[in-house]
Amino acid sequence: MFNDESVDAGYEKEWAYVEKLLKESGNDDFSGGKCRKYPFRSRYAHTRRVLTWLRRMLDDVGTVDVVAMEVAVIFHDVGYAKGKNHEHAVLSAEIFHEYSVANDFLPEKRELIEYLIKNHNNKELLVRGSKEELILLMEADIMDEEGAMRIAWDNMAAAVCGAKSFKESLERTEKYFNPDYNPMITPLARNFFQEKQEFVKEYIRRFKDDLGEC
Ligand SMILES: [Fe+2]
Repeated sequence: MFNDESVDAGYEKEWAYVEKLLKESGNDDFSGGKCRKYPFRSRYAHTRRVLTWLRRMLDDVGTVDVVAMEVAVIFHDVGYAKGKNHEHAVLSAEIFHEYSVANDFLPEKRELIEYLIKNHNNKELLVRGSKEELILLMEADIMDEEGAMRIAWDNMAAAVCGAKSFKESLERTEKYFNPDYNPMITPLARNFFQEKQEFVKEYIRRFKDDLGEC
């Protein structure tokens, strides 16, 4: 039985299952903006980083089902393998359901994990009063590709999309960055996110300075 006592903290089997589905589907790389695909944006690599963020934020919470959250993270985006992006959360939950039945997950554990996966993309639930495990999963998911990684993404995307100057990559960062945005609920997540925001603000300020615009 798959439960808190028997779970392998490395989740090697679950990771291998998700990695195979995503990579063999041809849908592992994210699209975005004007470009159909960015080769540097791997959904599998994103999922790995989301688990890292989740673990960083666990210090901040009381009694939560850590195993359910971690397994939910591993499966939360696997539905993209089916190629229907708008339905990915439901498809991810379905893929997890099949996996969990085949691997003898405890029914109560399965139910919670399915709920988390199915709702991880519903931003209306990122509010105080929602299930704490869901809030943390959503926060960890949003945390990825922000801060330094947002800047790297913008610069690589600008190049992939044919930018001819440094200024064009800065313009892209300014276009997609909202300095007042901080959707996080839990205090530690709010702090992490705010640090990322401040970093991007400072990057923009210094970049403008380097271009002689200040
Ligand atoms: Fe995600």
